[in-house]
Amino acid sequence: MEKVIIFDTTLRDGEQAAGGSLNIQEKLDIARQLGKLGVDIIEAGFPVTSPGDFEAVRLIAREVRDSSICVLTHANLKAIDQSWEAVKGAEKPRIHIVLSSSDIHLFYALKKSREEILHMVSDTVAHARKYCSDIEYSAMDASRTEPEYIYQILSAAIAAGATTVNIPDTVGYAMPHQFGQLIDGVFKNVSDIERVVVSIHCHNDLGLAVANSLEALKHGARQVEGTINGIGERAGNASLEEIIMGLKTRPDYFGLETRIDTTQIYRTSRLVSELTGFPVQPNKAVVGANAFRHSSGLHVDGVIKAAQTFEIMDPKAVGIPSSSLVLGKTSGRHAFKERLAELGYSLSEDDFSRAFAAFKELADKKRDVTDKDIESIVAEEKRTVSETYHLDRLQVTCGDRGMPTAAIRLIGPDGEALADASLGTGPVDAVYKAINRLVGVPNTLTEFSVNSVTEGIDAIGEVLIRIESDGVTYTGRGADTDIIVASAKAYVNALNRMLNVKKG
Ligand code: KIV
Ligand code: ZN
Repeated sequence: MEKVIIFDTTLRDGEQAAGGSLNIQEKLDIARQLGKLGVDIIEAGFPVTSPGDFEAVRLIAREVRDSSICVLTHANLKAIDQSWEAVKGAEKPRIHIVLSSSDIHLFYALKKSREEILHMVSDTVAHARKYCSDIEYSAMDASRTEPEYIYQILSAAIAAGATTVNIPDTVGYAMPHQFGQLIDGVFKNVSDIERVVVSIHCHNDLGLAVANSLEALKHGARQVEGTINGIGERAGNASLEEIIMGLKTRPDYFGLETRIDTTQIYRTSRLVSELTGFPVQPNKAVVGANAFRHSSGLHVDGVIKAAQTFEIMDPKAVGIPSSSLVLGKTSGRHAFKERLAELGYSLSEDDFSRAFAAFKELADKKRDVTDKDIESIVAEEKRTVSETYHLDRLQVTCGDRGMPTAAIRLIGPDGEALADASLGTGPVDAVYKAINRLVGVPNTLTEFSVNSVTEGIDAIGEVLIRIESDGVTYTGRGADTDIIVASAKAYVNALNRMLNVKKG
């Protein structure tokens, strides 16, 4: 079977999703997991857009060696120089140049003629080739570009040295049949097309990103771009796990394969959801909580008799754990370590000790500690590393008659204990006001949600919040069996992330 190159842009296009910012450590964690998943190319960032992106790309390039590491850059010589600085430490670096091709973009956004754009593509691709032998060019908004001009622009990119040419459906406008025809046209009309890899990059504005991507692969494209869980600009990108499982489940139809270790899909999806704060909808194909759950009696009966009656994929093939009930109060360090390893975590001794202490504390409150609880504990422990402010103590009084009051003690940047109290309209409001009195950085709370990690009254509650300051959104998460404590942790987490960014 022919190979399809899997190009992951979770850390670039995925992170561009409104409210989806990740810090450098989180990007590195996701990149390492993408390496384990076996993606061929990781688009690690857009270094010229921020120093944080630059640093994240530099670190990922140094640490993740099995996948190619790609940087996105504008078609501008200085931006290419800077982007190369970020990615040059990679074992297999790639420079990805983007420049629009549609008349709508040329006229309104770039204010340039088609001729000027052709020159810019040639000049910048040739410039990037001086640094690197692996160059991708993307004709942004290709699906709304006159096909004749696409052929011209891709021919120019190839003549200048591009090794991959990408045809993005930037605004999710294409229809599958039409998109397939565009790919046919590219193969027939672009000079030297057989020397390069043809790639596609589809957005999901009409819910067709995966369908368009698969259609393009059927028509000969051999690189597909997308994100884990389909996160990304607006309605998101093509969901890579759906494309990968589509190819794996229907070799009879596609005759194509990837080098992905599909058993890492579920873990990758959970990690991306956890770190970006974007929940996965229960009915999401392949990785949703209900994707392999059967409810109607007829279906359950069928699956018990033979799984293939109502299952076209084996849940084990995507790495969904077969049992979820694992540990309890009497489980020791060894059992906990083993379970962590089975779930794909390898923690340093320090991180392990803190996670184990948190596990013991939870096991005292909750009879059964499940895999999801363990994931939540590890995530919470990671969040408290390198905090500017640490939540030390919290006490709240509330009820239907009283005045909700919160007293808070934080450990500040120099290790000093800071305490204050406040009234509020409810307990969470009182907690946030008390914290604000101590931290003193103005911000607006734009989102607040609570979810239970597992079923049951003793479950861990996970709080996700988003705050805005100077036009930038920061996400915060916190987990605890007490949801007021989880809310306070989430707020302190969001403030720490904001302060880190403000400190640069
Ligand atoms: O959607 C798009 O066109 C992009 C390009 C940078 C490939 O994200
Ligand atoms: Zn995109």
